[in-house]
Amino acid sequence: MAPEEEINKLKAELERHNKLYYQDDNPEISDAEYDALYQRFKDLEAKQNKKEKLSPTDKVGAKPARNFEKHDHIKPMLSLNNVFNEEEFEKFEERVLKRVGNQEIIYSIEPKFDGIGVSLTYEKGKLSKAVTRGDGITGEVITENVKTIKHIPLTLKDYPEVIEIRGEVFFRLKHFKKINEEIESKNGKKFLSPRNAAAGTLRNLDIEVVASRPLDVFFYGLGGHSSDFTKRNQRDFLNFLKENNFSTNEFTNFSNKDGVKNYVDKILSSREDLDYEIDGAVVKVDDFSKQEKLGFVSKAPRWAVAWKFPATEKVSKVKKVLFSVGRTGVITPFATIEPVLIAGANISNISLHNMDELKRLEIMDNDSVLVRRAGDVIPQLVKVNKELRSGDETPVKIPDKCPSCESELFLDGPFLKCGAGMKCKKQLFGFFEHFVSRKAMNIEGLGYKINKTLINLGYMKSAADLFRLKKYESELKSLEGFGEKSIENLFQSIESSREPSLAMFIYSLGIPEVGETTASSLARYFKTFSNFKNTNLDELLQMDNIGDIVAQKIINFLSTDPIGIDDLVNELSIKDFIVTEDSHLDNKKIVITGTFEEYSREELKDIIKDKGGIPSSSVSSKTNYLICGENPGSKLRKAEEFGIELVKEENLKEFLKI
Ligand code: IVH
Repeated sequence: MAPEEEINKLKAELERHNKLYYQDDNPEISDAEYDALYQRFKDLEAKQNKKEKLSPTDKVGAKPARNFEKHDHIKPMLSLNNVFNEEEFEKFEERVLKRVGNQEIIYSIEPKFDGIGVSLTYEKGKLSKAVTRGDGITGEVITENVKTIKHIPLTLKDYPEVIEIRGEVFFRLKHFKKINEEIESKNGKKFLSPRNAAAGTLRNLDIEVVASRPLDVFFYGLGGHSSDFTKRNQRDFLNFLKENNFSTNEFTNFSNKDGVKNYVDKILSSREDLDYEIDGAVVKVDDFSKQEKLGFVSKAPRWAVAWKFPATEKVSKVKKVLFSVGRTGVITPFATIEPVLIAGANISNISLHNMDELKRLEIMDNDSVLVRRAGDVIPQLVKVNKELRSGDETPVKIPDKCPSCESELFLDGPFLKCGAGMKCKKQLFGFFEHFVSRKAMNIEGLGYKINKTLINLGYMKSAADLFRLKKYESELKSLEGFGEKSIENLFQSIESSREPSLAMFIYSLGIPEVGETTASSLARYFKTFSNFKNTNLDELLQMDNIGDIVAQKIINFLSTDPIGIDDLVNELSIKDFIVTEDSHLDNKKIVITGTFEEYSREELKDIIKDKGGIPSSSVSSKTNYLICGENPGSKLRKAEEFGIELVKEENLKEFLKI
């Protein structure tokens, strides 16, 4: 799509969403989705170097909706400009200093609450009106609705003739969840976000509905006021609010950029722990006379900025949907996209999981897409912006042959699969990646590059070949990019791995659904590898902790034998599982939390496994012990709830008999 065409489509979309949001209280998309579209629009607009007429970037919001009485604010309710990083904040600060003269600026910093702005007017100390922001100049009178909020002061202690006090109305997450559950139980249309729920509730015409939902509020701003209001800065104003029982949030003052930045980071790091949503911090020039001098431009003041947290959703464009081959032969579709920076990570590939998901998304090459990344979570493709299609989109080409080995593919449930096993280079590569990993055979020196080269050059055609590399020692040492030392280290590591424990070996095989814990249970139950290899479905199902699906996967693996088990086993001397005298932890499920002075958690896990215990990752009623170090996490609380025996570091040696 040509850039002008995309801009026009985006503009129409943004205006439609503005109307849905501001006028109809019925948004179709989340705030983050809107932000992402808006950002894309701004980027394209900046590139073409010309401002759009009727551009949504010039608007605060659409005109207020009907039904509520209108009211003009004494002082307009403005919006805020955004900064996203230190550099942009510096520019803001430069502009401030230019206008007020080079002098020390004290800033007041508060969280930016993601709710709905309201303005409360107090006349002669009595609440006379609560008004929505509307278009910034004229809002709607929603006094009765606001009065349903528990802690709204109806009177002021020490008051000027008239004063407007601004705040943000929102729902706490737990309340939002409950409201949506209730709506769902009545087959209603759920709110998209706590913010939409607050908007919909504040402007709901049915007071009963409003009163039944626990709206909340934080106050932060001074609007218009008579000249007898004498507070001179944001600090004193916030303290005035507190004295008059307005609910306020924490705020701090700093006079230098580093202090501001650190405090913004602190707010950001607290974000996950809050039970309400914030989307940034607001940095304000503290002194009211300086604010006055700075004034505002277009829709936003020059004396404040919103330091926005990294967006977790952005719009990008699909280059092509491609397919990758995993170690078990599953072919995973993934979208390659124009790279976007989200929450600090540059994203250019996104997994689309399986063929059902591909169908559900109805994605095409060249589509505009919404991408999400929350915290350290894997990026997701939230949706395809079908309304932005231009005709340049082309259907995704679904392969019928394996992209790596050209075998015919088949469907297994929602998964497309290649059945070539170790004959497929990509599967062989994936097998070795898992096989040598720390929790598996723990072989060092077979990193990405060496693994790939050894396979491509035909030195490793099967799992067992890894243990026969030695005969090519001199050839390998002379290969470009393979240092002599690194090959020696690899050989040494291969040799010392020839006697794996049974649990380790079973885990190394890479049987689908068989993780460390299941592998330990299988080792304990079967004792020798040949017992395990000759098992059948009935026997597996007799085991306590093996379900139908896992049992079936194991049998499939053993019968189809995709890795050449016997050949591999011949190269090794797998230790039988022997219950020795100090296997006192036999079959005990043990969870570890916190940090330890003498051991890493990995070391503790290995000791536990050696002694027959089962290291588990989460606490349940079946957990036998919790080994608890410094700074334990929520696992400790959970273990206490279940009454699980705790082992502290000082008792570890005795407990583990080491
Ligand atoms: S001060 C002149 N402080 O964010 C405008 N606003 O995007 C000064 N908001 O309209 C606003 N938390 O509805 C301010 N601590 C805070 C805020 C805050 C949320 C909202 C407010 C404003 C919007 C701007």
